[in-house]
Amino acid sequence: MAVAIKGALKVASSSSTSAADSRTDRLRNVLVDELLAMGKITSSRVEAAFRTVPRHAFVPAGTPLEDVYHVDKSVITKTDEHGAHLSSVSATYIQARMIEQAGVDAGMRVLEVGSGGYNAALLAEVVGAAGAVVSVDIDADITERATALLEAAGYGDRVTVAQADASLGVPDAGIFDRILVTAGAWDLPAALLEHLAPDGVIVVPLRMNGVTRTIAFRHAADHLVSTSTELAGFVPMQGVGARPERIFRLPDGKGRHVSLRFDTGAPQDIHLLDGVLAAERTAVWSSVAVAGSESFADVYLWFAGFLPGFCLLAADAGTDLHGERDWFPFGVVRGDSFAYFAFRPAAVEGRSELGARAYGAHGAEAATAMVEQIRAWDRHARGGPEPTFAFWPTGTAPDAVVGDVAVLDKTSGRLTISWPTAS
Ligand SMILES: C[S@@+](CC[C@H](N)C(=O)[O-])C[C@H]1O[C@@H](n2cnc3c(N)ncnc32)[C@H](O)[C@@H]1O
Repeated sequence: MAVAIKGALKVASSSSTSAADSRTDRLRNVLVDELLAMGKITSSRVEAAFRTVPRHAFVPAGTPLEDVYHVDKSVITKTDEHGAHLSSVSATYIQARMIEQAGVDAGMRVLEVGSGGYNAALLAEVVGAAGAVVSVDIDADITERATALLEAAGYGDRVTVAQADASLGVPDAGIFDRILVTAGAWDLPAALLEHLAPDGVIVVPLRMNGVTRTIAFRHAADHLVSTSTELAGFVPMQGVGARPERIFRLPDGKGRHVSLRFDTGAPQDIHLLDGVLAAERTAVWSSVAVAGSESFADVYLWFAGFLPGFCLLAADAGTDLHGERDWFPFGVVRGDSFAYFAFRPAAVEGRSELGARAYGAHGAEAATAMVEQIRAWDRHARGGPEPTFAFWPTGTAPDAVVGDVAVLDKTSGRLTISWPTAS
């Protein structure tokens, strides 16, 4: 496979370092102040780690320092032959947040799944001399790169880097107080969970019907229960735990496509949708209006749990859909028709009414199914506390499902998403 891996920034010679050092120190401190103000760093140990570790020593040569010391820019370090991202140094806000979500502290043993070097160095600072950090990656290019960069930055004897497919477990690695998974996972494999101490915490970006949340889980009797979540995207998990999406490209008759991406529940016969983009369009509105400043990312999670046929949507430049600005990339398929999440100006100025537009003979049905879930979210979840996620490994029995609980089957167990009104 043709891949591109990017080298590390060369360390400047000591005679030319002082001006550069003071610039990187300044940028690093500004970044940390921003992460503190955003509430992404909440503890003094994590703050000290971010003020100490030179992030620029772990990114490819030529990466602008403003991008290196940015709150939400990841830096890509490896792509595949199609340009898809295989590895990156994650954005600082999510690195900070995951370490805080995990509650990493002095003396702990921490496993990082997905290497790069920088995050492992942060973890080494947080756990200190009495702790231990093991970082594993499925890709030998990445472990070699991380090993060399950690060595050069002075962390060579504080982090153990190993090559492994974490979904199969890490041979001889033992038990960890904390596990941080830094690739997008669809499942929580038993072999990985076996490394988690009984009172341990695992933080994992979990994919739920195409919607990802980075979730901190703790053991609760025979299952895991969430303690916090964060919005973030990650490069996908590879190896035995890889779970490719199914992508259907609907032609618009002019050489362009609208793509529907399914995580689970792809339609049996997608050809029913042949020619659908040429069909009449319809719209159904919900009477649910949102202000411009209101976050409604939870609607997507609600759809992912409760709307059968849910998918992600993308439109090629030049398609009619691409030219429109009043929709979000979430859809639902019903037989020969599909609907997508849309909005229009509401009666009250500054607010938008949520709804669905649809293509196809049964478009109204598809749009109505989506609108019913927008209304359900509005009644049960809007503005409320975030849901609780629980993972029930195969062989355990989830609590009886009552109220607003979405149930998603995974390979190694069952995930439930309980919205607070259900309890
Ligand atoms: C976002 S990068 C890691 C970033 C790194 N933790 C950091 O913050 O700098 C995700 C990594 O996960 C690795 N990965 C993907 N699937 C894996 C698996 N099954 N086991 C171990 N590593 C995996 C990829 O090779 C990639 O390098």
